Amino acid sequence: MKTKLIAPSLLSADFGNLQRDIEMLNNSQADWFHVDVMDGRFVPNISFGFPVMKTVQQHAKKFVDVHLMIVEPEKYVEEFIELGADLVSVHYEACVHLHRTINLIQSKGAKAGVVLNPSTPVLMLEDIIADVDLVLLMSVNPGFGGQKFIENTYKKISETKDLILSNNSTALIQIDGGVNLDNASKLFEAGADVLVAGNAVFSSPDPERTIELLKL
Ligand code: DX5
Ligand code: ZN
Repeated sequence: MKTKLIAPSLLSADFGNLQRDIEMLNNSQADWFHVDVMDGRFVPNISFGFPVMKTVQQHAKKFVDVHLMIVEPEKYVEEFIELGADLVSVHYEACVHLHRTINLIQSKGAKAGVVLNPSTPVLMLEDIIADVDLVLLMSVNPGFGGQKFIENTYKKISETKDLILSNNSTALIQIDGGVNLDNASKLFEAGADVLVAGNAVFSSPDPERTIELLKL
């Protein structure tokens, strides 16, 4: 997988015009579709589930990245993969048997990512880093779009990079929450490979141009 990727989050799309927004992303320089699934239990908000995922499957022509903010994600990963997920990321905090869940995702033919909340230290990944395809560092507390970026994330990127190198891991580093035109290039420089952007893209008067600018 190449780096410096932008993954617009559909959480900030206009659900009344979801197909239109997906087509816009198909025609843009966006690399991935980021799909935020929230259950009202792991996070204090409910977003959407399989019916919206079906619409994404029908129209999206790029890599589909599913971020599960749900308890017991192992119960649902298979169905998301059947509905076209190329990557499924699960929270460290939501998985009692993380190694088993990562293996399950990969055995069903998808890439597997592990997500850390802002307060979870990177060192918790020591015994899973060699097995994952991606580490997603939350740069806001998950649950809502449009929140303020937490600056401590830069430190966590450099710790994650060190952990990846010392374990000969090929994992990509993804950042999610509060990414915008002011911090995107700094995040790539710090070692991020994939940036999720919701509000920055969809609240902009020219989303396609904003995606281009996020990559500069
Ligand atoms: C937050 C979600 C994010 C969110 C990012 O819980 O995981 O993917 O959509 O939105 P922005 O870019 O607006 O912070
Ligand atoms: Zn997300």
